Amino acid sequence: MPGWLKDAVFYEIYPQSFCDSNSDGIGDFQGIISRLDYIRELGFNALWINPCFDSPFKDAGYDVRDYKKAAARYGTNEDLIRLFDKAHEKGIHVLLDLVPGHTSEEHEWFRRSCELKKNEYSDRFIWTDFCFRGTGNLGYPYVGGEAQRPGTYLLNFFKCQPALNYGWLNPDESWKCSTDSEGARSTIEAIKDVMRFWMDRGCDGFRVDMAASLVKGDDEKKSGTSRIWREIRDMLDRDYPECALVSEWSNPSLSLRAGFHADFLLNEPHSPYSTLVRDYQNHAGRIIFSDPCFTGEDPEAKACYEDHSFFKMDAGGDISRFMDEYLKLYEDTKDIGYISLITCNHDTVRPSFHLSERELKLFYAFLFTMPGVPFLYYGDEIGQRYLSLPTKEGGYFRTGARSPMQWNRGKNLGFSDADSDRIYLPVDASSDAPVVSEMVGVEDSLLETVRSILRLRHSQSDLQSEPNLQIVYMEPGKLPFVYRRGERIMAVNPSSGKAFAPVKEQDRDPVWKIGEGSLKDQLLTLDPQSFVVF
Ligand code: NOJ
Repeated sequence: MPGWLKDAVFYEIYPQSFCDSNSDGIGDFQGIISRLDYIRELGFNALWINPCFDSPFKDAGYDVRDYKKAAARYGTNEDLIRLFDKAHEKGIHVLLDLVPGHTSEEHEWFRRSCELKKNEYSDRFIWTDFCFRGTGNLGYPYVGGEAQRPGTYLLNFFKCQPALNYGWLNPDESWKCSTDSEGARSTIEAIKDVMRFWMDRGCDGFRVDMAASLVKGDDEKKSGTSRIWREIRDMLDRDYPECALVSEWSNPSLSLRAGFHADFLLNEPHSPYSTLVRDYQNHAGRIIFSDPCFTGEDPEAKACYEDHSFFKMDAGGDISRFMDEYLKLYEDTKDIGYISLITCNHDTVRPSFHLSERELKLFYAFLFTMPGVPFLYYGDEIGQRYLSLPTKEGGYFRTGARSPMQWNRGKNLGFSDADSDRIYLPVDASSDAPVVSEMVGVEDSLLETVRSILRLRHSQSDLQSEPNLQIVYMEPGKLPFVYRRGERIMAVNPSSGKAFAPVKEQDRDPVWKIGEGSLKDQLLTLDPQSFVVF
């Protein structure tokens, strides 16, 4: 386990939209470098940068054309290496985004793989043996009619993202490679080579895209895919022991056993994370664990849903809906790795879409006092809004969460000096769009709340990643929720009424708070919408 994860708090950057240093309308590496002090002073000591490699950008860079080449729009490989160096000087670790499940259809490997004549890339992707194969029950999306080869090929996500070949768990047809076939083995070695390439240049690890997607026909336990990650982890443990691996898997029981150091809980239907800040039911009582717009419905049509999120004031949310599931995962994995909670990410609606500033503060205070390795998505520290925007680079509804960072009231809210019609995405045009410059130094602003809770986290080892969580008071349907980590006791009450809990503890004073609370005579009392650390 890389030692630095013990007190790591991540800031996710969507590089297109963070800071444009050369006025071409799109964010870049130098822009990120220029904001490292801001990030560090807020309390973040680690970055995750979304894919920043050469790409046609049909899926915002998750369609990689060259894994070893920085996308020109962000700068050169040397600029990226300089970003690693500058970040390290400031005590910041940097994760790149590794996309191992697929490439862009424009990747050289795929072009060669399409050729009729057999070559070293013929089995780098998953090809069937017949042009109409797939019209039956293949189980995966596929494409035909585009290459000389007399078969179809499988997709991993969008049409532009052919699936790399890691083999099939139990190949039952002659065209399916096994996981130890030459083709599958050469894919694994190629991805290891990419990882080594960036590790040798100073990156500190990888957020791994669709980490569960490698082996096809995999079993429920993902045993084929897990074996590959264990092998990769062995390589890292041997050659790069400080390299961190964080999976987009949302199943810590499997991913951490497969060798990941941390795994995100995402807003997927099976994930308890959704009950915290995005817990919707439609009027027919159907539970929609994800954002309404994820289901293809209009995000503006909030009125069609009841929100039962725990952090939404008086929405009837119940923390045990989160905790019951979380604790199972936590107990199962606490000795082998970390669970990562997020404010949101580049694939979700921003939490400010549903929560008020006060509700956001309570949510963030919870997130940053829980065990594991937390992540904040750029802009969530100011409550940046989800915008209604037309799709860009395969973003669809996600585009609204990818708008430019709002630094100040200057041109393009400080994101870029380019003309407004040339910037990557429009900035929030509302007159009260939150901006960094108006929150820095303002006591009780959302941004300063983030800074102060992170200061507390870094100052007390009990509040960092380690698995020392104990539940003190949690009654279904009741408030407050009270939990302990080492010497610290945290209590949260998102409702509009006072909350009380019997707590068998000595009297204590708050050491950090939003609102008010007390712990006296074995009674914990919390004011409405309060969060207190005792
Ligand atoms: C998950 C990424 O987070 C998302 O943005 C992307 O579109 C898909 N994986 C495909 O790579």
